[in-house]
Amino acid sequence: MYTKESWTCIFLIICGMQSVCHCCDWIRHHYGLLSAEYLSLLDQMGGDITEQEAPVFFPESLYRRIELAEIKTRILTFHYEDKDRFRNETIYQITKLFDGNMKAVTWDKKKLDDFLNILECQFENLKSCVSPAKKPARRLKRYFKKLNRKVLRKMNYSAQAWELIGKETKHHLQRLDIF
Ligand SMILES: *[C@@H]1O[C@H](CO)[C@@H](O)[C@H](O)[C@H]1NC(C)=O
Ligand SMILES: *[C@@H]1O[C@H](CO)[C@@H](O)[C@H](O)[C@H]1NC(C)=O
Repeated sequence: MYTKESWTCIFLIICGMQSVCHCCDWIRHHYGLLSAEYLSLLDQMGGDITEQEAPVFFPESLYRRIELAEIKTRILTFHYEDKDRFRNETIYQITKLFDGNMKAVTWDKKKLDDFLNILECQFENLKSCVSPAKKPARRLKRYFKKLNRKVLRKMNYSAQAWELIGKETKHHLQRLDIF
């Protein structure tokens, strides 16, 4: 039987494989596996699920654009990497957000570490397996910048600020998982 810890290990081995083989397809198919793992860790980290809403609105049209591109891909069956680029950029922005001062968090530190490691791994996989975007994702960047400014900095990196960030993060990682 595997313990929960050794699962995390296995995930990190999957990540490490990227550097020794050209197995982008294989790894791309495991997006869901890694995604399920960090979403589960995010839940296990604990802390209060805050009722509060972040004072920043996500530009929803970004998701709609990707979903539309998905439909086009199915019909025309041409190679479309928008989805993976969007995932790459979003996950990168999330890892940057979690670079802030985390002294006040009340989360389980080990689970938090595992969460960040696996998220980082997902980012490394995406980064090396998709060709870079031609257009910079400005609106996405702006949204994450606002989260940083209006939540983390304004609320002094408090436990409550991090709860809000955790909630937003979960929401977006779940959406990235679905499409
Ligand atoms: C993924 O995101 C990083 C950070 O923004 C960027 O440097 C890289 O080019 C992106 N990769 C792809 C494939 O979009
Ligand atoms: C954050 O810290 C500053 C300076 O220490 C203080 O003036 C401000 O009231 C604090 N804000 C919150 C939301 O605690």
